[in-house]
Amino acid sequence: MRLALIGNGGVGKAFIQLLLDKSGLLLKEKMDVQVNYVLDSKGGIYNPAGIDLMRLTEFNHSGLPLSRFSGGGSDQITFNLLLANGGVDVLVELTPSNLLTGEPGITHIESALQMGWHVITGNKGPVMLAWHNLNRIASDKGVRLMVGCTTGGALPAINGGLIDLAGADILSIEGVLNGTTNFILEEMEEDRCTYEEALVKAQQAGIAETNPSQDVEGWDTAAKILILTNILMNESKLLQDVAVKGITALTPQDIREAANNGLKIKLVGRASFQDDQLIISVRPEALPPEHPLSHANGKNKAVRFVTDTLGELMITGGASGTRAAAAAILRDLLFIHRTGR
Ligand code: HSE
Repeated sequence: MRLALIGNGGVGKAFIQLLLDKSGLLLKEKMDVQVNYVLDSKGGIYNPAGIDLMRLTEFNHSGLPLSRFSGGGSDQITFNLLLANGGVDVLVELTPSNLLTGEPGITHIESALQMGWHVITGNKGPVMLAWHNLNRIASDKGVRLMVGCTTGGALPAINGGLIDLAGADILSIEGVLNGTTNFILEEMEEDRCTYEEALVKAQQAGIAETNPSQDVEGWDTAAKILILTNILMNESKLLQDVAVKGITALTPQDIREAANNGLKIKLVGRASFQDDQLIISVRPEALPPEHPLSHANGKNKAVRFVTDTLGELMITGGASGTRAAAAAILRDLLFIHRTGR
């Protein structure tokens, strides 16, 4: 499998490291993985014989631009060059998520699918805004568009829904879908630190978005509940269809008061029918201990589906982290390999 990776941030770097760490598994799976391209917005690396991942991992610690990598690095290596050269089986698209335009992710994903390449992405913007179109192209071309990383990283929310809830009507989806806010709320509840300190810790752990207001103002959760809704409930909803409230207006006193009443405040994304109308919302909710979502703690997340034929199911865990997100990309790569397309 010849791979091109676009996006060399925390998850991209962790993915390269993971390919090395899991080389034994790849061998066992008879997966001959070769990374031919690593690109970011300033240039990249191209090596038709496969980039030396050990050297790349060491180089990634240096903080230098990819163009300085000896062994194929150049500022002339662009996405257009990649398209012109061809010779790729799978594009791994990990550029930063733009929830307004989906770009440059949509262009990358669409172009790669048109080339007949499989695509694996952790980029929420394109999936939230253009899933139906992109998935139709993938299907026309006989390739896969895998998006397991986009709705909670390690949490198998979207693949669990697509594969294991197949054939059931999903009547509602609710979830704690953002590790950063879940972590901040718990740190504050346990009185371990202030809101600001907890946010810095989440940033240091590499789990907050590049623009952390997307986490704390609820937009990251909104993107994830929209992706789940549009894909699993076959809807075409947009951000403006979601009533979004984040955690920024919560005070330590709100959290303490809830705790004194035995409640835990969680940022909940929900899609459910009221009077035959699908209502999608994101807001902090004070949940009692008997509510299943109240047990998603720390950087963990949870999603709960209510279905017509498979009952009520909940998936919980999948703490946010760059290595966990990279592992979600690897999981999708294995799926493509094992299903033979
Ligand atoms: N910022 C996200 C979170 C990371 O905190 O869960 C991946 O979506």
